[in-house]
Amino acid sequence: MQARNTVSSYGAVSKALHWAIAALILTMIPLGLVAVEWPYDTSDALATKALLFSIHKTIGVAIFFLALARIGWMLSQPRPAPLHPERRLETALAEGVHWLLYVSLVAVPLSGWVQHAAAAGFAPIWWPLGQTLPFVPQSAALAAGAGTVHAVFTKLLMAALALHVAGALKHHLVDRDGTLARMLPGRLAASSGTPVPARRHALAPALGALLVYGLVGGTAVTIAGPDAESDARPGVALPATVGATTPASWIVESGELTFTVRQMGSPVTGRFGRFDAEIVFEETPDADGRHGSVTVVIPIASMTLGSVTEQARGPEFFHAEAHPAARFSADILAAEEGDADVPYRAEGTLALAGAEVPVTLPFTLEIVDGVATASGTVTVDRRDFGMGESYPDEATVGFSVEIDVSLEARRGGVAAGEGA
Ligand code: HEM
Ligand code: HEM
Repeated sequence: MQARNTVSSYGAVSKALHWAIAALILTMIPLGLVAVEWPYDTSDALATKALLFSIHKTIGVAIFFLALARIGWMLSQPRPAPLHPERRLETALAEGVHWLLYVSLVAVPLSGWVQHAAAAGFAPIWWPLGQTLPFVPQSAALAAGAGTVHAVFTKLLMAALALHVAGALKHHLVDRDGTLARMLPGRLAASSGTPVPARRHALAPALGALLVYGLVGGTAVTIAGPDAESDARPGVALPATVGATTPASWIVESGELTFTVRQMGSPVTGRFGRFDAEIVFEETPDADGRHGSVTVVIPIASMTLGSVTEQARGPEFFHAEAHPAARFSADILAAEEGDADVPYRAEGTLALAGAEVPVTLPFTLEIVDGVATASGTVTVDRRDFGMGESYPDEATVGFSVEIDVSLEARRGGVAAGEGA
């Protein structure tokens, strides 16, 4: 069997790609449906769910690249002519469905991949690429939207596939022609019917398929829209209480509060979309060496952690119902001797999930034209907060949690409404 297509038969490369991708797709659909439905109420169930998703995503990314190779190959090849060119409508329908399948082979994995990259990657892809994607910011709203689009596109793929398989079976069982035979490995070109010379790809079926995709895609994005909006939690801090400002107080204008934990051995980053901060800071310390103080109140409901947000908010971890907010209250002091890179530290107490734990956050600070940019990192141990007691080792959820803070604040004395 030759590698290239002829005007009447598929070559080995087309057949190999067709059946390899068909086998993978037929595995992926049930895998996706099962992974979505899989519970995650116990640590074992969560581990299995993550495993199912990692397999799903890893195979899905492979399909994406195989699909690109397949489409490139298809475009470079002669197309075996239809066996019944006189049945124009049927031929156009079959070709339209082929185009739908080709577009699905790119759009379905890509939308899943965007969901993964935007959600900061619960259940990692096992290829050494693709945990994040260029132009895809980490955003709960985008992840939710891409997840909806992925789910809708997979339904379109299933519908197209059902028509495609039904068509192939109809040719085989009703028409008893060689349509299926010429796609099967090792067979010669179909003999029934009179093949006409190869044509270029017809435009109408391709446009029809694109139209269907556009309509379904548009609907999917519209469905995802309001949902995504309501889930949107810009990573911007609430301004601190303006009424309390003094020249030494600072108003937080924007900020990011994230935390990173190892889940099944891979880092996963969650974020708090909102926090209220009251900051008093002077560059010259008082007699006790204090530069000021900081109090941050963080609503747990604003926390997102990939696809396990609900579980993280639950009783096993943040226990948002019983402890709806976390609070960090600290004095701002100069760094310990010898720590020149990080000139300040906020030394205080983190009250979280019913526990109060001493925490010191070293941070850098730059003040330019009355705008302060600060960032710091501290690592805490989830066990100190009684989190994840049914995960006694680090196999599913690591012990260390790295908290990263960065914010921009403006001196309160010049804040709007404060006048001179
Ligand atoms: C599992 C059951 C499947 C069967 C029985 C089947 C059967 C066939 C047959 C017989 C052809 C040749 C049609 C012709 O010569 O006119 C074909 C072509 C094609 N199949 Fe499938 N297929 C299956 C799965 C899939 C899947 C999962 C996909 C992709 C998602 C797919 C995509 C295509 C495409 C795009 C073509 C057109 C090839 C071209 O001419 O460019 N098929 N299939
Ligand atoms: C051709 C390849 C793929 C197929 C056929 C496929 C199929 C599916 C199906 C059927 C579902 C269940 C949808 C539902 O009813 O809720 C699903 C869910 C999902 N898939 Fe895929 N998938 C593919 C590729 C990918 C890739 C490459 C990724 C990520 C890298 C991915 C990530 C996901 C995620 C995260 C979900 C859950 C969506 C949500 O509920 O938010 N998939 N997939």
